[in-house]
Amino acid sequence: DAAAREGLVVQMGLDTGPLVVGRVGEDPNVAYTAVGEAARGADLLQQFAGPGAILLGEAARRALAGCVDTEAVAIETPRGGVTAYRVRGLAGVDPALGARRLGVLSPFVGRRRELAVLEDLAAQALAGDGQVVTIIGEPGMGKSRLVHELARTRGAAGAALREGRSVSYGQQVPLLPLIDLVRAQCGVGADSGPEETAELIARQARELDLPADAAGWLLRLAGIETSSAPATPEAVKARTFEALRLLFLRASRRQPLLLVVEDLHWIDRTSQEFLESLVERVAGARLCLLTTARPGFRAPWMDRSYATQVTLRPLAASESTQLVDSVAGDGTLPRPVAEEILAKAEGNPFFLEELARAVVEHGPEARVIPDTIHGVIMARIDRLPAGAKRLLQTAAVIGREAPRRLLSRVWDDAAGFEASIEELRRLEFLYERPGEDAVYVIKHALTQEVAYDSLLARARSALHERVARALLEIHADGLDEVAPSLAHHYARTDLADEAIRWLIRVAELAARVYANAEAILHLDLAHRRLERLGEGRERDRRMIDVALRQAHSLYFLGRFRESVDVLLRQEARLVRAGDQALAAAWSFWLAHMYSRLGDQRRAVAHARRAIEVAEEIGDEVVRAKAHGLLALEGVWSGRAEEGIAHGLEAIAVLGRHPEQGWYLGMTGKAMGDPRLQSYAGFLAGWAEASRGNAEAAIALCETSRDRAPDRVAQAYATMLLGYSVLEYGDAARARGLLEPVVAELEGFGFLQWHAWASIQMGEALRIEGRAAEAAEAARRGLEVALRAEYWYAVGFAHRVLGRVAADAGRLPEAAAALAEALATFERIGGAFEAARTRLDLAKLARDRGDAASARRELAAACAAFDRLDAPAYRARAARLGSEQGAASAPPASAPSASPGYHTGRG
Ligand SMILES: Nc1ncnc2c1ncn2[C@@H]1O[C@H](COP(=O)(O)OP(=O)(O)OP(=O)(O)O)[C@@H](O)[C@H]1O
Ligand SMILES: [Mg+2]
Repeated sequence: DAAAREGLVVQMGLDTGPLVVGRVGEDPNVAYTAVGEAARGADLLQQFAGPGAILLGEAARRALAGCVDTEAVAIETPRGGVTAYRVRGLAGVDPALGARRLGVLSPFVGRRRELAVLEDLAAQALAGDGQVVTIIGEPGMGKSRLVHELARTRGAAGAALREGRSVSYGQQVPLLPLIDLVRAQCGVGADSGPEETAELIARQARELDLPADAAGWLLRLAGIETSSAPATPEAVKARTFEALRLLFLRASRRQPLLLVVEDLHWIDRTSQEFLESLVERVAGARLCLLTTARPGFRAPWMDRSYATQVTLRPLAASESTQLVDSVAGDGTLPRPVAEEILAKAEGNPFFLEELARAVVEHGPEARVIPDTIHGVIMARIDRLPAGAKRLLQTAAVIGREAPRRLLSRVWDDAAGFEASIEELRRLEFLYERPGEDAVYVIKHALTQEVAYDSLLARARSALHERVARALLEIHADGLDEVAPSLAHHYARTDLADEAIRWLIRVAELAARVYANAEAILHLDLAHRRLERLGEGRERDRRMIDVALRQAHSLYFLGRFRESVDVLLRQEARLVRAGDQALAAAWSFWLAHMYSRLGDQRRAVAHARRAIEVAEEIGDEVVRAKAHGLLALEGVWSGRAEEGIAHGLEAIAVLGRHPEQGWYLGMTGKAMGDPRLQSYAGFLAGWAEASRGNAEAAIALCETSRDRAPDRVAQAYATMLLGYSVLEYGDAARARGLLEPVVAELEGFGFLQWHAWASIQMGEALRIEGRAAEAAEAARRGLEVALRAEYWYAVGFAHRVLGRVAADAGRLPEAAAALAEALATFERIGGAFEAARTRLDLAKLARDRGDAASARRELAAACAAFDRLDAPAYRARAARLGSEQGAASAPPASAPSASPGYHTGRG
């Protein structure tokens, strides 16, 4: 109205958000400037508001929800259309009460004990045994809510509730909370004009029979001038206090009073003095003074016998869950999301509500801290003395936990350290975990995040650099221990070289203990950092190096195809870099992966290339590894002779480099490396199983599986354990082991072993008498084996199919399949499996009544087992022979009857 009378036109734009406030530029007339998105937004809104109007941005609207009525308006800005909110008027509620209490209240949870204590104290007070109570709790912990709940209980029934509150900007404005209380006591509403206010206060004074001048002091306090005689400030204060005390004490005689003063941590000195003087006289009155404050506030009356302090602790996990669920409403949040909220909010009801609400509104991907929470925490941080605030920010850069040794070294103001730490501790921003090296822990994760976010980018990266340097100094003789921290801090500076170096170091250390997922994570970061460096050979080399490391870790995680892809992406770079050592390693690993993926041709080609390059540069390790791979290729593809030659070459060289032998599973000297042990174990187990020594095979494979340090080794060992168990005759256990392995190997893309495991599954099912499923599994395996040209498995599949047919009495079909199996094994030089197939053929011949053929097959098998030094199988063949020779009277020592064509215990 005043503006209109003066002919002044006002238009406003309001928004809220983080700002940087400071002196910018040299203009002596400008004390400070606010820079940031919110300031720009508000400025823009102001231009569009029009005379006499107020436009709010989205964030401001949310912050003022419930305090003002708004309507959405579309405005066209130079940067496109935006929705703004025109203020239509006040929502009829005092904004000082805070938006928080106005929203829909979540169902009240927990706090039963605290509420009982308050009820009890209130009841005592209202019965004439005056009390003063202070509820202490961190922002959002539920102090106001508890007061609200108390006011509704029976304990407070019959009392008149009068509320006053301090506000964050109120310390310079004396007596604000007391004015609230007076207005409440006299029934003055938010929209009462000066005349009405005067009238109401005067009436109350009359009713309570206050001395004539008391009413005058109360009016003066309420901002309504009366013509009382001039007095010194001291006198004014004394008289005002006197009038206030009379007002409340007399009123409490008529009706018990529940005086609530909230947020004492913001109270002005004079109001606090008055409350102290009131407390002194409260003892016999029907009056309860209920106050709330955040930690750090010390109530001066705490030593009174009728004073009580109630501290609000975080809600329990079950209560927190209840609160989150109630915010989520019908659609309960996914478990992991709810758990993340629980972890972040740490039992603070306000944080629980806000985080849950943010997820409900923006989806579980909304990772940013809601403005509301940010505001509350930031306001607290901003009120810290400058030194303490900066120390908190510094600690936040170090992390949730900051070792004293590190923090004090990073801190540049040695003199202020202790005092600032003390302040932060007193205000419960952090606590100290004692120990040889004391550690300061920032009490809440959210506080750490907000403190960290409050730093400007430049300051933040400077601090990260200081922390990294301090770490280097402190841990000079054990840098690997702090490598992850160094990587973390350097990655947040502009020092790309340092960042990359430490990221790679962390990946290396992680890969060493088979923490491959972690290794990949760090390598990805290193890769991204490298991408931003200037192009050149050096960068190419480093990128290839990173890719090779990634390819290794991906393999151990069973991500075979990605391992190939990562390398293929480096092809052009490899040519540019012209680094032969890298080229050899690159070719070898590609060969290895192609071999595992059943792509024989590419595997062989890359292995040959690796050998060629390795020879040129004299890298005998890579050359030997490539030979080893070709040995394996020989097995996969059924060229056993060739494979053996390569294998011997590999062994000759790698015998001198035992640390390189893991991928061959060389069983040479026992190594400390768990992967090597695991490989050696299952390969030895496989050999034992093949010689018919099932018990030794099972023991070896079990140990191998237990030592397996990663998914891949685990799957391999489990598959061979399943195979060994099957050889031993326990089909049910074998199936239990093999079933998940089939899926696992299929996931890896490892065609050969996927096929083989599937076929073994078929055999297990067959022994269990589940013929149809058995044939199905064997056929699936056959198909995959053919795709990989893995003839060994092809032979196995035909043999299982032959056995299934024989079990069902389909003898010609069985004969054809077994003949196919035999031919396959013979073609690839698989003498042992060929001999085993002959045992099946002997049985089949006997069943067909062809004794001569049976004898012939048995004789051939026996000869082969002798030659191959497989005595257990030699014995089996002999037993089978004697059974057939004396079919009418089997010897007492005959093996337990195992079903069908399974060869039973060795
Ligand atoms: N026990 C509870 N059950 C359900 N909701 C609660 C509970 N306690 C608090 N809340 C809710 O959490 C939010 C924060 O509570 P409240 O405003 O009382 O905190 P406060 O301690 O007064 O914080 P401040 O110090 O900022 O004033 C409110 O929305 C409130 O309704
Ligand atoms: Mg509150």
